[in-house]
Amino acid sequence: MKNTVVVGAQFGDEGKAKITDLLAQKADFIVRYQGGCNAGHTVVVNNKKYKFHLIPSGILYENKTCFIGAGVVIHPESFKKEIEELINDGIAQEKFTKNLKINPLAHITMPYHIDLDGADEIKLGKNKIGTTKRGIGPTYSDKYARLGIRIEDLFDEEILSNKLDVILPNKNAVLEKIYGLKTYTKEEILNLCREYKELFAPYVCFDWQNVLRDAKKNKTILFEGAQGVLLDIDYGTYPYVTSSNPIGGGAAVGASMGVKTIDEVIGVFKAYITRVGEGDMVTEQLGEDGSKLQEIGAEFGVTTGRPRRCGFFDVPLAKYSVLVGGLTSIALTKLDVYDSFDEIKLCVGYQNKKTGEITQMYPTSVYTHKNYAPVWESYKGWNKDTTKCKTYEELPENAKIYLKRIEELLEIPIKIISVGPDRDQTIFID
Ligand code: GDP
Ligand code: IMO
Ligand code: MG
Repeated sequence: MKNTVVVGAQFGDEGKAKITDLLAQKADFIVRYQGGCNAGHTVVVNNKKYKFHLIPSGILYENKTCFIGAGVVIHPESFKKEIEELINDGIAQEKFTKNLKINPLAHITMPYHIDLDGADEIKLGKNKIGTTKRGIGPTYSDKYARLGIRIEDLFDEEILSNKLDVILPNKNAVLEKIYGLKTYTKEEILNLCREYKELFAPYVCFDWQNVLRDAKKNKTILFEGAQGVLLDIDYGTYPYVTSSNPIGGGAAVGASMGVKTIDEVIGVFKAYITRVGEGDMVTEQLGEDGSKLQEIGAEFGVTTGRPRRCGFFDVPLAKYSVLVGGLTSIALTKLDVYDSFDEIKLCVGYQNKKTGEITQMYPTSVYTHKNYAPVWESYKGWNKDTTKCKTYEELPENAKIYLKRIEELLEIPIKIISVGPDRDQTIFID
């Protein structure tokens, strides 16, 4: 396998984890490059469900290095809980100590980041983003404001102490004066950081420069994305986005192995579209079709349990995603969710409600989305069970027509089709 990035190509929850898990079989080195425990990634193996937030799902295999890159932000308590839950699910403890490595440059989500995420959302009121409240925005804000604490800082108490002298007065002022929230003493944070040091010690990879050099030379690398292109801080539906770069280019930055290490960027699309949190979605279906997609697709968030809003596949959005995400091929998931639909709609353009003008260009200002109505193409459903199809040939003819049209419009090949959550419910196309 070529070195491959798995990118969510819509609004997250496209089934990236299933695709990553499948490709991980052929990789030696799996690296998460951005996001934090806002991600909720489900892998199903022989009907058993594993849930991941921070830890690369490659941990399910033997002897694959699972690397958390510098672009990721880590909430220590969630990290601890995730490992405990995975051990409860039957993954051997030794696998974590042997295979899991963290770049010491990764930033830490501190307790005040979680407080601020919640407080910011309340303050925004009806303009709230609908975040996962995992402290993601405040952690990345501090990183860019150069007020962040990195994993490596935990291992030198003098450096940490000096940093806290700068950071804490700033954070406390915001917590207290703007939000009327509880402040933190330096001793309190130092004590927590001592616990964090113990927690991370078995995993932190101080030798990361050599480890990454070796990976570049000798290993097949899989870059595991979280969130999706339309949640990208630069290219998504700003401000209804996350605070990192899920796009393919984000992998070069967050995993720090250079752009030329990447050979292929697989964009994972659902056969329809979903979104959790605020922000418009032009093809959203508020009626029967949306409810049916939500029910059959079991569209509820892995991290927050919130219902996902559902709609039909949006081609202008997908073409935009191919462009800015740098996608070179497609993995299309959840085709089976359409098995009982009589009619399937595909949005092939946006019509300006005032001028009647039709465009294929994705309007980047989310505030203008309400001015557009989808231009639909209609496809006949197949009313057949696809969940046992193992080859492209076995798929119903109407499903093939739908897939061909998507491929034709997006101008990159569909290489993987997923017809169920399990590993073996997958069709690979040469
Ligand atoms: P991710 O965040 O992109 O990894 O996706 P999530 O794990 O949040 O959500 C995808 C959900 O769809 C999970 O529950 C998967 O087990 C499930 N899933 C993945 N592929 C398929 C598929 O082809 N068909 C069906 N029915 N479910 C799928
Ligand atoms: P995976 O990796 C779907 C959404 C939140 C909110 C916005 C900002 O499972 O696809 P944040 O907490 O990141 O500041 O929230 O982004 N969001 C996701 N939506 N899947 C995810 O991850 C998401 N991670 C964040 O709902 O709208
Ligand atoms: Mg998810």
